Amino acid sequence: MNPLTTTRIVYFSPTHTSEKIARAVGEGIGMPRRIETDLTFDESSSPIEIKNELTILAAPVYGGRVAPAALKRMKRLKGNGSPAILLAVYGNRDYEDALIELHDAAVSLGFTPLSAGAFVGEHSYSTPELPIAEGRPDETDLQKARDFGKESLQKWERIAAVAPLKVKGNIPYKELPPSRPACPTCTDNCFVCGECVDACPTHAIRIADDGSRIETDMNLCIKCCACVKACPNRARTFFSPFAAILHEKFNTRREPEVFF
Ligand SMILES: Cc1cc2nc3c(=O)[nH]c(=O)nc-3n(C[C@H](O)[C@H](O)[C@H](O)COP(=O)(O)O)c2cc1C
Ligand code: SF4
Ligand code: SF4
Repeated sequence: MNPLTTTRIVYFSPTHTSEKIARAVGEGIGMPRRIETDLTFDESSSPIEIKNELTILAAPVYGGRVAPAALKRMKRLKGNGSPAILLAVYGNRDYEDALIELHDAAVSLGFTPLSAGAFVGEHSYSTPELPIAEGRPDETDLQKARDFGKESLQKWERIAAVAPLKVKGNIPYKELPPSRPACPTCTDNCFVCGECVDACPTHAIRIADDGSRIETDMNLCIKCCACVKACPNRARTFFSPFAAILHEKFNTRREPEVFF
């Protein structure tokens, strides 16, 4: 295929695991020119035109599907036929229909899927008390991501045309359960530093007008736990009944899966 010189790394990644894997894939590709498009906080709708760039699209898995906020933010992208490497990042339970959904979204945005991978990141609900895929991606994951990037570029250089990419997943996609509004809360250890406000991708958190406390709009909260992980004082907590089950049942290490 025609030689490419630019890698575009696009991600939505509240707790940074999708970001780390996307960057490692970019490193493996090794092109001198890399552009990063971080959609985590980006609520703009003006189009981003992507032309002749090997594009990495990375998003977390929420409920076996692509995180809805990621899909919403990716709508700005105009692929113009650019080849895309798709990455679904999940918390060691399962990614179910997320990769196929990301594939279909990429096609509808005008990308040509070249390869895809499901990688594991520390679960958003993981805590030191109830770890779930704690510390992932680790060095082994990142090396696999670099190798995957290198092999994806080799595929591009080897082929004359891109054949339709087959990835794991079902159509119709898994139905999402109705969303129940909930959000993390602050303990008495909160000293209103505002770190969590800056970490929130949906602007659900604010400091109260009198500066005495943190307020959260649970209707805006996507339960990503970025605020919990960003709090320097461990004063932000999210109670999910799933955390104990995930900790107990999904403690066997899952490895990345890739599709060419
Ligand atoms: C609301 C929500 C739903 C999630 N659903 C799943 C899931 O279905 N399967 C899974 O393995 N992990 C699930 N996770 C965990 C995330 O996919 C995982 O932590 C991912 O690494 C987060 O990506 P980020 O660090 O880029 O934000 C979920 C996390 C959240 C917040
Ligand atoms: S980051 Fe932690 S300590 Fe700082 S305002 Fe938020 S909850 Fe409070
Ligand atoms: S308030 Fe909700 S959306 Fe905002 S960072 Fe915390 S968990 Fe994520």
